[in-house]
Amino acid sequence: MQNLQNLFEKPLQFINAKKPFDVDIALILGSGLGGFADSLSPLLSINTCDIPGYPVSTVAGHSGKIHFVEAFNKKILVFQGRIHFYEGYTLAQCLLPVEISKLCNARAMIITNAAGGINPHFSPGDLMLTSGFNSMLLRKEIAELFSPGSVERRNALVGLADSPMYNAIQRAGLEAGISLKEGVYFYTKGPNYETPAEIRFIRETGADAVGMSSVHEALYAIQHGIDAGVISCISNFAAGISGAKLYHGEVTETANRVKLVFEDLIKRAIALY
Ligand code: HPA
Repeated sequence: MQNLQNLFEKPLQFINAKKPFDVDIALILGSGLGGFADSLSPLLSINTCDIPGYPVSTVAGHSGKIHFVEAFNKKILVFQGRIHFYEGYTLAQCLLPVEISKLCNARAMIITNAAGGINPHFSPGDLMLTSGFNSMLLRKEIAELFSPGSVERRNALVGLADSPMYNAIQRAGLEAGISLKEGVYFYTKGPNYETPAEIRFIRETGADAVGMSSVHEALYAIQHGIDAGVISCISNFAAGISGAKLYHGEVTETANRVKLVFEDLIKRAIALY
């Protein structure tokens, strides 16, 4: 896979000079889920707007901070907020958090997001561990991360299930007594939600949930030897799945409602890994 270190020379130099320690695990907190970072006591917090060359997040509910934390028996790097492809950045630019995780020698990542539920057995507030991705809409951009003519560019994309982090999250769910769902995450480019007709099509592909992030982060991490587990907070029924009208506020409302369960799952997964 292409090396993005040149693209990120300035932010990586900055983090390298500041980082208080190498980490075990990096955690990306998705839409509405950033509040978890406020309950931690970081050794160092950095506003991403103070990092030269760090893309600015324009999405409500993404505060743009990086924290170095020692907790749950691990050293952790927490990204409070993420960079979205739909904000107009290149896919490569969206991968800066993974490059920073690599720089800090993270062995694994937990990548979280908000997603619309498609599986009829899912309800808003459920947590889903991603067993597979449908990244067909991102094919070209992902391929472009590999050098032209390389074997990797033509290879099938890697999967997620049964990695050590996947297993740690599954065990954390059991330990916490959470009815953790598992399923396929369908990536859409956004920024707008899908139409009911699009969701009917996406459902036919075997998808359980739909969202606008995470896939490239996990794939890039795995390609660089970092184990990755992806957790979705099902924030709403995807368009047309229920009669209800979609609104963005549901992402934060649902995340707030399941905050304690979500945080318990993450803490246990980190400790178990
Ligand atoms: N669709 C796409 N992305 C989302 C959704 C959705 O319904 N909910 C939260 N993120």
